[in-house]
Amino acid sequence: MGIVLKGATVITAVDSYAADVRLEGETIAGIGADLSQAGDAVLDVAGCYLFPGGIDPHTHLDLPVGDFSTADDFASGTAAAVCGGTTTIIDFATQNRGETLQAALANWHAKAQGKCFADYGFHMAITDWRDDVNCAMEDMVKLGVTSFKLYMAYKNVLQVEDGVIFRALQRSREIGALIGLHCENGDVVAALVRQALQAGNTAPKFHPLTRPAAAEREAVSRAIALAEMAAAPVYIVHLSTAAGFRLITEARTRGIPVYAETCPQYLLLDESRYETEDFSGAKYVMSPPLRRPEDAAMLWRGLKTGMLDTVATDHCSFNYAGQKDRGRHDFSKIPNGAPGIEHRLGLLYTYGVCTGRIGLNQFVALTSTNAAKLFGLFPRKGTIAAGSDADIIVWDPAPRTTITAAGQRQRVDYTPYEGFELAGRVRHVFLRGRQVVEGGRLKESPCGKYLSRRSFTGKGGGVCLPSF
Ligand code: URP
Ligand code: ZN
Ligand code: ZN
Repeated sequence: MGIVLKGATVITAVDSYAADVRLEGETIAGIGADLSQAGDAVLDVAGCYLFPGGIDPHTHLDLPVGDFSTADDFASGTAAAVCGGTTTIIDFATQNRGETLQAALANWHAKAQGKCFADYGFHMAITDWRDDVNCAMEDMVKLGVTSFKLYMAYKNVLQVEDGVIFRALQRSREIGALIGLHCENGDVVAALVRQALQAGNTAPKFHPLTRPAAAEREAVSRAIALAEMAAAPVYIVHLSTAAGFRLITEARTRGIPVYAETCPQYLLLDESRYETEDFSGAKYVMSPPLRRPEDAAMLWRGLKTGMLDTVATDHCSFNYAGQKDRGRHDFSKIPNGAPGIEHRLGLLYTYGVCTGRIGLNQFVALTSTNAAKLFGLFPRKGTIAAGSDADIIVWDPAPRTTITAAGQRQRVDYTPYEGFELAGRVRHVFLRGRQVVEGGRLKESPCGKYLSRRSFTGKGGGVCLPSF
């Protein structure tokens, strides 16, 4: 017995066409006309789009920061994700200093197992480079963790030295992994923060002033040079500046395999959010910080021209009350990060597709296909094709809704997008053939599975990802 989704338009990263889609078991059994067999359920979805389930390759769920953790754990975060059309997340397992990568991975498995409403994989964030870590990277790849993140910022906490980045890049090439880099010059940021606090500048508005665009530009430039010297591909996470973007474009046109991600906050919000006399700028304290509207305009052009590969959320939610206000008298103590996992597709569809900044096929590439290709999930995930996992979003383009904290599923007491109008919404969601969202409502218990990902090949599988 299968399910036939009837009367919609199928949208992939390369095609848009009218067809019915038949799901059987966990996969897509057929695409075409007259597909229904005896016993099948037929769902009339005329007027809707069918998108491949969204993939958010950058989330932080149940992340401890000092003596508390992010507001969203794997249950609340993935419930919000599927309601917003994201059926796969890749979260950051993070190594504590002194810990083995194996222990860090076991820790993150324990946080996620049995709690997820979406399928999930892990990147591994390396914070403490040692000889055993060098060996353990290969073990990670065997366990399906085929990407790593290193931080060029957060001095004395997460930041690693250039030599470590270089060696990790070399190692990634040997073992078929992809290194993601957080690009900000952490030494300069630390000095600026110290100077600001010494001068009595403690309000949230000093957060962006101590993390200038040049700190990202310098780190992106260094990241590209390190990748070039190691002859390894690199993935720049949460890019926020036009200056960083120009460097990436220049490197790519020289044939250097530099991939890049941006996030809705850098496309839709700007630094004016920090200009408040009260503490509410803390809601936007994230790293890198929000930038100028000109930066956002350049990032949109990057999406349009295919020079940026993915739109992720960097979902890292902290309540305004009780968590963000730990930094009420010292902006450097405000936990960094903002929520977004629920609204990624809605925001990119409304402010990207509906405004003509990107096309529908680009929307699918940016929210799903390219991440699947970069992170070893394609064609199981990231497309609508016979044999792929039946992860399908039935998207109704007609409704108009407004984002509010009161109406969101994310378990956090604010949203940076309060009052943003959305065009279109998720009607139904299928995760490996199971209907997890019906009429916009979550209907399943947690049935997300761990995804052991394939190694990085650099081939991208063909269509929209450049093969260098
Ligand atoms: O402010 C942010 N982005 N917090 C999450 C950690 C990171 O740097 O990705
Ligand atoms: Zn980061
Ligand atoms: Zn992050």
